[in-house]
Amino acid sequence: MSKKRRSQHWYGKLDKDGFIHRSWMKNQGFPDHAFDGRPIIGICNTWSELTPCNSGLRTLAEGVKRGVWEAGGFPVEFPVMSLGETQMKPTAMLFRNLLAMDVEESIRAYGIDGVVLLGGCDKTTPGQLMGAASVDLPSIVVSSGPMLNGKFKGKDIGSGTDVWKFSEEVRAGEMTLQDFMKAESGMSRSAGVCMTMGTASTMASLVEAMGMSLPTNAALPAVDARRMALAHLTGKRIVEMVDEDLKPSDVMTKEAFENAILANAAVGGSTNAVVHLLAMAGRVGVDLTLKDFEIGSDIPLLVNCMPSGKYLMEDFCYAGGVPAVLSQIKEHVRPANTVLGKDISTYHEGAEIYNDDVIRPLANPVKPAAGLRVLRGNLAPNGAIVKPSAATDHLLEHEGEAYVFENIEDLKANIDKPDLPVTADTILVLKGCGPKGYPGMPEVGNMPIPGKLVKEGVRDMIRVSDARMSGTAYGTVILHVSPEAQAGGTLALVKTGDRIKVSASGGVLELLVDEAELEARRTNWEPDPEHYTRGYAKLYYDHVLQADKGADLDFLVGKDTRLVTRESH
Ligand code: FES
Ligand code: MG
Repeated sequence: MSKKRRSQHWYGKLDKDGFIHRSWMKNQGFPDHAFDGRPIIGICNTWSELTPCNSGLRTLAEGVKRGVWEAGGFPVEFPVMSLGETQMKPTAMLFRNLLAMDVEESIRAYGIDGVVLLGGCDKTTPGQLMGAASVDLPSIVVSSGPMLNGKFKGKDIGSGTDVWKFSEEVRAGEMTLQDFMKAESGMSRSAGVCMTMGTASTMASLVEAMGMSLPTNAALPAVDARRMALAHLTGKRIVEMVDEDLKPSDVMTKEAFENAILANAAVGGSTNAVVHLLAMAGRVGVDLTLKDFEIGSDIPLLVNCMPSGKYLMEDFCYAGGVPAVLSQIKEHVRPANTVLGKDISTYHEGAEIYNDDVIRPLANPVKPAAGLRVLRGNLAPNGAIVKPSAATDHLLEHEGEAYVFENIEDLKANIDKPDLPVTADTILVLKGCGPKGYPGMPEVGNMPIPGKLVKEGVRDMIRVSDARMSGTAYGTVILHVSPEAQAGGTLALVKTGDRIKVSASGGVLELLVDEAELEARRTNWEPDPEHYTRGYAKLYYDHVLQADKGADLDFLVGKDTRLVTRESH
């Protein structure tokens, strides 16, 4: 190879700096030949005991190392911030961009030639890809993989999805608190991510459909020995990718993002994919907008997994996983490069469906048109989204009266009041839960059904907010309203009793209040005081972009691929 490897700017120098870089590394027992110019592969690990979904990544890193050594590379594992979706307050999403900064600066500052990204839990996958894309060294993903199917009282139960269901049943008096507590240990019984088609498995599926991981990466259970083998093969492949100089910008093209959008529709993926794909596209300079998500609108829902269907990720894996899905929608899939250096069609060549109730053939979908719908109107001039596959059909075309919660505290204090003036036709509106408002855009958009209606048997209503919702959640939930209330969007002006019109087929979200009245309300409006006045959260508040731009920080959009030449000593 003629060009000097990036890592040789650290480890190939015969001076004081080279001594320092090599000598300190040798305290770990690495021999001289580890520094002889072979590719140095960073293994960027989001393992943490506070991110239980990523608890298997220590073991997988060893698998990657086997493959890197075998291919003649030198693997070095390093930790980055880890985001435990179920453990962090106010929301892991507040820190996705901080993880992305950590990943980007770690890759840039260290003497590595390529990176294997080990992630899994919701925000870890997009955070790592955003950071890696901004440095643009050869990069490839290995995901945690899903937990084994949850089990309770002889039935399969799904992460998240059944929590929302059980907690509503407890509120309705249909499930005892003892049973509710017992279900906890049955739900999460192995290493891995949520085993529903939540955000983690959605992002893993989209990463595979984009060609940023090896085929089958998304669905193999975390504890399946084949995932360890996949990690090994990934380690081998990244060494070749360094030699081929195959970078994220060569794979994460517009076509790859379109394939992710198509796959998201077919798998019934999370609404969170929208903000994550938009943010990732911003890093590689792909012009992706909400409008592009409409290409998924007519794609049928093929994967019968919770929350849109009834099975779980283990079933999805055994039924054929992402390759089988891609083979069904191959007429739509765009030609696009992958980490194999081959077209994405190689990912589904010869793929078969082994259980046609779990993965439906095109002729017999779970739902005919499943992609996310983008809604626009005076209530969301820059867009909002709804996931029809998880919604109640008749509510997708509806006009009703708003009942407004000014913030999350208002909602929590009042949602179960017996005299709350709401019916099943009311449209619940929640403000102050966007990127700036909360801050961090939490997953509270699927607000609970008012207690009095739950007792009457109501299980779904239209809910509108600037929040996100968990990828494991369901309901007729309109999300990501942009601009958000705290940024002065029309959402801030909605009052209880206003009428709202929703049409998913027409792409409409209108507040039926005339412009003069809205102007009058706007003059009297003021944003809430900021929750944080210092630290990262303050930086986030000052720089976060709205949901329709992916909620990245404005100064992180784009990339900087220059080699850092200055030394510390
Ligand atoms: Fe980590 Fe669902 S909470 S993947
Ligand atoms: Mg989540």
